Parts: sequence; C-alpha cells; structure tokens
Amino acid sequence: MSDTMGWVPAEVNPDVPSVARIYDYLLGGSHNFEPDRAMADKLLAVQPNVAGIARNNRAFLRRVVQFMVQAGVRQFLDLGSGIPTAGNVHEIAQHAAPGSRVVYVDYEGVAVAHSKLLLAGNADAAVLQRDVTRPDDVLNADETRSLIDFSQPVGVLAITIGHYLPPACDPVGVFACYRNAVASGSFLALTHLTDDFTSLHGDEIVETMKSTQNNVFPRTRAQVLELFGDFDLVEPGLVTTSQWHPDYSMAPAVDPQEDGLYAGVAIKP
Ligand SMILES: C[S@@+](CC[C@H](N)C(=O)[O-])C[C@H]1O[C@@H](n2cnc3c(N)ncnc32)[C@H](O)[C@@H]1O
Repeated sequence: MSDTMGWVPAEVNPDVPSVARIYDYLLGGSHNFEPDRAMADKLLAVQPNVAGIARNNRAFLRRVVQFMVQAGVRQFLDLGSGIPTAGNVHEIAQHAAPGSRVVYVDYEGVAVAHSKLLLAGNADAAVLQRDVTRPDDVLNADETRSLIDFSQPVGVLAITIGHYLPPACDPVGVFACYRNAVASGSFLALTHLTDDFTSLHGDEIVETMKSTQNNVFPRTRAQVLELFGDFDLVEPGLVTTSQWHPDYSMAPAVDPQEDGLYAGVAIKP
C-alpha cells in the first residue's frame, strides 16, 4: 500500500491492522488504513458496543487527568498513548495547570509520528517510541529524565495497555517497575479488558485480534488488582470506565459490563 497521505513512517506496515489505528478509527479519527477499518468492522460484528467502549475509555482518561491535576500532579507518563485524538493528556493537563509536563510512550509508528507533529514547539511534552514492556528504556530515556522529576508525584497512565502485554513479558513485574520508579503521592490509573464480563464476548475479541499486530490478553478482576501492587485504590475502587466518577457529559452505563473494561486509580502511599 502506498503512502498517499505523506504521514506514514517507512517502518509502518499498513497491511496488518494495528490497535492504535483501529482505536483511532473507532473514535472517529482519520489516521487509519483500510485493513484497520475492516478489522474494526469485524470487532463491531463481535461486540456492537466496541465504539462505545472506546469512547467511555477515552472519557475516563480525561476525568482521570483532571482528577490528578486537582490532586496536585503536574507530570504525566502516558504508557501506550496511541494516536493523538480529541482530549490528549497534555491538552487536558496544560489547560488545567499550564506548565504540566507529559511524556507519551508508544511503539506504533503512526502514533509516534503524529504525536511528534502535534507536540512540535511544546517544550513541556515529548513522545518516545519505546516498548512499554522495557521499563528501563522508558524511564531512562533522555526525554523522560528531562521532563519528569522522579522526586515529585507522577501520574502514570496505563489506559488500555495492560491487556496487550502477554503473560510471557511478566505484566505484574513491568507494572512494578513503573510503580517503584515514582515518588510517594504518585498515581497509577489503568483500564483493562476482562472476560469476567460475559456480555463482552471476550473470547471472540481475542480470536479476532489474533490477525492484528496486537494480541489481547483479558484478565480477571484479581489479576487486574495485582497490577496496582501496594498502591491504595482511590474511591470508588476498581469499577468500569463509565462508573468511575461519572460527570455531566455522560451517563454511566446502565449495565457496567457494557463498558467492557475495568478502570481504577490508585495512589502510592
Ligand atoms: C487502544 S490504544 C490506547 C490509547 C490511549 N492510551 C487511550 O486509552 O486512549 C493502545 C495503544 O497501546 C500501544 N501499545 C500496545 N502495546 C504496546 C507496547 N508493548 N509498548 C508501547 N505501546 C504499546 C498501541 O500501539 C496503541 O497505540
């Protein structure tokens, strides 16, 4: 497939769908290719609410960043940040607290290229093309060290990233590295696919995603809780995306299972 739009990095294979671009399409974005859109349609056939799941996830991200800013956090590490779309972390944080600093991390070429374009001229935000399963590479990158002061609280955002980490990469250990790196008063927010919710059709989603660049690994509530380690969950605990501090802009799902994702925020004691 040729790059008719001029923004596709050479290493990107547009013929194999990627979750970054499928998610962009589900959110109404334009940085995706025909195979991504076809895969999104397959997912919609399995789970007709998949676009709603994506929107509720994105809305959770917005509320979480606002919550953390109100709690005094001024620096964010966004793991698996995706293709920029409406409501990016630096926009939300820097609007609420000018000067807030953000490091975005993703390994997908379109996500990184488009983030670079968006962040040009923003001295308080950067994007790293790194694999989040290699925390040392992320935490010791020059951009991370120059933007994040690890003696001060950090908002670590792991929003729909955990379920892309296979058991073989030791997700609990990976999350522990990020938790250990940050100061007391830091927050960890995450959303995670689960097959605890029978109406989600998790098995079929797992099967469908096997032909993309990103296999998915739903986890049980107990397994998701493990990712928070010894951090203390803030109210209302581990719920689903729309159930976490819903605001005027959206009604919580009548059946929480419709959100498809566990969602929670915890603070480092
Ligand atoms: C569904 S998107 C989520 C974007 C954003 N966090 C949000 O919730 O709105 C998941 C992102 O995680 C990225 N991703 C998956 N596994 C990754 C890994 N091991 N390292 C870095 N990025 C990864 C994908 O490329 C994709 O952009």
